[in-house]
Amino acid sequence: MATLHFLTLNSLSRSALLQVLDHAAILKMEHMAGQTRSSLKQRVLAMIFEKSSTRTRVSFEAGMIQLGGAAIFLSPQDTQLGRGEPLEDTARVLSEMVDAVMIRTSEHDKLERFAKASSIPVINGLSDSCHPCQLLADIQTMQEYFGDLRDLKVAWVGDGNNVCQSYCEAAGIFGFDLLIACPSGYAPDPAWITKGHGRVRLTSDPKEAVQDAQIVTTDVWASMGQESEANKRIKAFKHFQVTPELLDYASANVRFLHCLPAHEGEEISQGLFDDPRTHTVWVQAGNRLHAQKALLEYLLAG
Ligand code: CP
Ligand code: NVA
Repeated sequence: MATLHFLTLNSLSRSALLQVLDHAAILKMEHMAGQTRSSLKQRVLAMIFEKSSTRTRVSFEAGMIQLGGAAIFLSPQDTQLGRGEPLEDTARVLSEMVDAVMIRTSEHDKLERFAKASSIPVINGLSDSCHPCQLLADIQTMQEYFGDLRDLKVAWVGDGNNVCQSYCEAAGIFGFDLLIACPSGYAPDPAWITKGHGRVRLTSDPKEAVQDAQIVTTDVWASMGQESEANKRIKAFKHFQVTPELLDYASANVRFLHCLPAHEGEEISQGLFDDPRTHTVWVQAGNRLHAQKALLEYLLAG
């Protein structure tokens, strides 16, 4: 049987994703009840980080430990990857030694090349194209607050970046409506909008996007690797900040999500996290652990 990878949400079928999410809810309850598991005993996840991370690293590492296995952190500086060893050779070598590989990199193409040469599951821990692990946690969070996501109204305010592109894909899979408010020139790639199967619309007006939405979400204006564009982006996005006043246009039961890290004074106003409507972000961050444990069990233990 072909090796299962998780490079985008569509790497798994809708029913497999729903199964992973149902399992994530069970794992969360078990974790909160202090129950332990050893489903991945003796199994090892290698994690290659070409960019910084707090949540992705800690959730995968803690997740593997909690399931009875272990995780190894690899940075390009300390491995032969940084000295030019081909990705494909690294993939073949790691396939002999560990049970799965998580990779955070810029070019999505690198993930695909790695996966092609790998006989063990490869997980996308963020590329410049998408962030499917983040969406597993976000969908879990949305389900916790709203149940069935069909026809839910989700507003994305800001950059049409990697996380936004995974939202487009998720809209198509889970059937929610996604209205993206972004400045001209910062929309998601049309190919990703197409993955939304007609559920994704664009506007240049944040208030229009947020109107009656149950979920409002955003992300940084300059992603990792775009630091040199930061000043230009601050100007382009200045009317796209999420504030308590903007959230007032949303549904009365709106919940705010942010993949984090957040930049107060940029994509969110100073003190926004004091607004109770935004406290969901901590639940969302915690769900990275549960959703990815469920994903690891799905990919490694079936
Ligand atoms: N949201 C997210 O992926 O966070 P990290 O960059 O800290 O992993
Ligand atoms: N869009 C952000 C997400 C970080 C989790 C970035 O790529 O830096």
